[in-house]
Amino acid sequence: MRINKYGISLVAVLLFGGVATAGPALAEYPSVSQAENAKKGKYVGASTCKMCHGETHANWEKTRHTMKARKGPAMGKEFLGNVYAWVQRDWEKLDTHMVLDNKDKTTNYVTTKKFKVEDVGFVIGQVRKQRYAVYYDGAPVEAYLQTTQDGGISWTIDKSQTVQFPGNKDRAGWKFLAIENKPKDGEINKSNYGEFYSWQERCIGCHTTGFDVNAWNAAKADFKEGKRKDLKDIFISDIAISCEACHGPGTAHAAAPSKENIINPTKITNVETRKMVCNQCHTRTAKNLHNKGANDLRGYRLGDQYMDHAEYVRPAWGKGSRNVSIDGKGRRDHQMDMDIRLSETIKGGHSVHASMACFDCHDSHKVGISAGKSKTLKKGTVETCAACHQGKAEAVLKVMNAGEGWPKYKYGEWGGEGGRTSRTHVFNLDAQGRSYGLSPDKYHWALKKDGDATKEADWLAIWPWEKASYEQKGLKVMIGATPWM
Ligand code: HEC
Ligand code: HEC
Ligand code: HEC
Ligand code: HEC
Ligand code: HEC
Ligand code: HEC
Repeated sequence: MRINKYGISLVAVLLFGGVATAGPALAEYPSVSQAENAKKGKYVGASTCKMCHGETHANWEKTRHTMKARKGPAMGKEFLGNVYAWVQRDWEKLDTHMVLDNKDKTTNYVTTKKFKVEDVGFVIGQVRKQRYAVYYDGAPVEAYLQTTQDGGISWTIDKSQTVQFPGNKDRAGWKFLAIENKPKDGEINKSNYGEFYSWQERCIGCHTTGFDVNAWNAAKADFKEGKRKDLKDIFISDIAISCEACHGPGTAHAAAPSKENIINPTKITNVETRKMVCNQCHTRTAKNLHNKGANDLRGYRLGDQYMDHAEYVRPAWGKGSRNVSIDGKGRRDHQMDMDIRLSETIKGGHSVHASMACFDCHDSHKVGISAGKSKTLKKGTVETCAACHQGKAEAVLKVMNAGEGWPKYKYGEWGGEGGRTSRTHVFNLDAQGRSYGLSPDKYHWALKKDGDATKEADWLAIWPWEKASYEQKGLKVMIGATPWM
């Protein structure tokens, strides 16, 4: 077996499916007809897949992918149990006001009315935290003002006076209460998180399957014109991350099962399409390009490009931010997407890590549940890396803690290289064994339209993989620490 400086077994690298290697040329997968089905096919729902794939369904049903969004008691008493037990017990003591809308960048309207637990139509999250959504019809209501001093992270409700909120039909739908709670007894996020968009407008696409963005947009237009009674419908096929989120719509396959009308992600030959199976959700966007207020890749179908739908959260070269450290490492959850993409700039297009998809290591049908091994991986943690890194597996695993070796940062002190302290996915180690992203000479910038090239404020920090798309828009792209100098 040949081993190189990373301690890597070349045999294992070659065995990895989908990763570009020398060998017989693979036929393109998905085929033209499969791709067509992925784009235009109809969703059927996981309960239909269950009829023939019972065992897979039984595993999947227990995964964390089925806990992202669930019905609440407003949909039936039997769903009360989806609200944490301690939250049910303490409901009266909590700030159960609905966030109605924003007044300006630092001020929101919230209802003076407190909602009952029975009003909760949807419970979002389970494992680490929960948010609660109640229905709002767009009408004028008595309100308090809620303000933020830190750019929208924590909010304070001023209960000393009330104002009249004029109403806004654009905000109608399932709306969040000003609370966010953790599973542990009494762990309330006191920040009164100020999300003012409705769940359907903002984030439903990443927490459910088959959200029909066109149907929602049409329903909203009808509602505003008085042609529709309410906006309670959520236009999805499954209230879970279900089979068809990763395999594509399955109506044709369920009617006439064949490998030709469904997608097996491991067989996808285009590296980008392959990665997007999971990265349609495991990413942090700045905004959706076609739907104001949306933060998801709503309407994403396998085969689409990321940048057809959304913009990535911006890097913050040199300064750092709450989202990314100065070298581009993710600081918050679901940023594995950008972490892994950075490998391509650092190690080049032929990097094995840059071309791996999440499911090359993670077990998609056992997310959060595979007993004995890691809770999420196909194999044990060390084994996963040892497949290629042999005896160096434990050493390279240090990379998963992006804080190790770097000075600790506190909230607001973003100017350092520290990233998430666990779960980070930038597969690069520097000479001191620390996880790193981009060095200043590799920072990427785009000059705004009609911008002044000598002014720092006129340069946008962009990710290396966005270079071509900015150039196509006619913007000048520069690489380096300070292109304005
Ligand atoms: C009526 C039974 C039936 C239903 C319903 C069904 N399947 Fe299948 N599925 C099959 C059979 C049979 C095969 C194997 C086909 C073959 O070997 O040619 C298969 C194969 C697959 C494969 C493997 C494809 C490959 O290339 O490896 C996937 C993925 C799959 N099904 C997903 C789904 C999903 C997702 C659903 C629900 C949307 C679903 N199936 C519903 C019978 C069914
Ligand atoms: C781009 C996709 C995306 C968008 C948009 C998104 N989420 Fe998430 N959300 C995720 C992913 C992926 C996770 C899992 C995080 C991880 O483990 O990295 C998550 C986790 C969560 C959790 C914790 C889940 C649990 O079980 O503990 C909550 C609560 C949550 N999101 C609420 C929201 C709300 C509310 C919005 C809209 C305001 C939203 N999310 C928008 C993808 C998204
Ligand atoms: C989070 C994404 C995801 C979800 C959700 C998901 N799958 Fe899969 N599925 C995959 C991936 C990736 C593979 C390729 C197998 C691998 O990674 O080893 C796969 C493989 C399969 C296969 C081929 C046989 C096998 O197990 O390798 C079938 C059949 C299948 N899935 C059916 C389903 C059904 C039915 C559901 C819903 C009950 C489902 N999948 C949910 C991602 C997913
Ligand atoms: C439609 C959106 C969506 C898709 C597609 C998706 N995920 Fe997720 N995933 C989520 C959300 C939301 C969570 C939040 C889980 C939590 O923390 O409660 C999550 C959680 C996870 C977790 C963490 C579970 C834990 O133990 O905390 C893993 C691992 C994961 N997903 C892997 C994958 C893989 C691998 C794929 C692709 C084969 C994939 N996901 C596709 C939305 C998605
Ligand atoms: C080279 C293998 C590899 C790849 C590729 C990979 N991961 Fe991981 N991931 C890991 C390892 C190792 C861990 C740590 C798991 C452990 O300690 O048990 C991890 C942890 C996680 C966790 C935290 C789970 C938990 O409960 O702590 C999430 C979420 C996650 N990965 C999501 C993803 C997503 C999304 C992708 C694709 C964008 C991805 N991973 C790609 C190896 C990988
Ligand atoms: C499919 C084979 C394969 C697997 C599995 C794999 N790696 Fe790698 N890894 C490579 C290759 C090849 C390189 C060389 C650079 C490249 O191609 O990206 C590398 C490079 C690295 C580096 C950079 C080393 C340095 O000195 O800069 C780190 C860190 C790393 N891998 C961590 C991991 C971890 C952690 C795991 C397990 C979660 C893992 N790798 C799993 C193939 C693999």
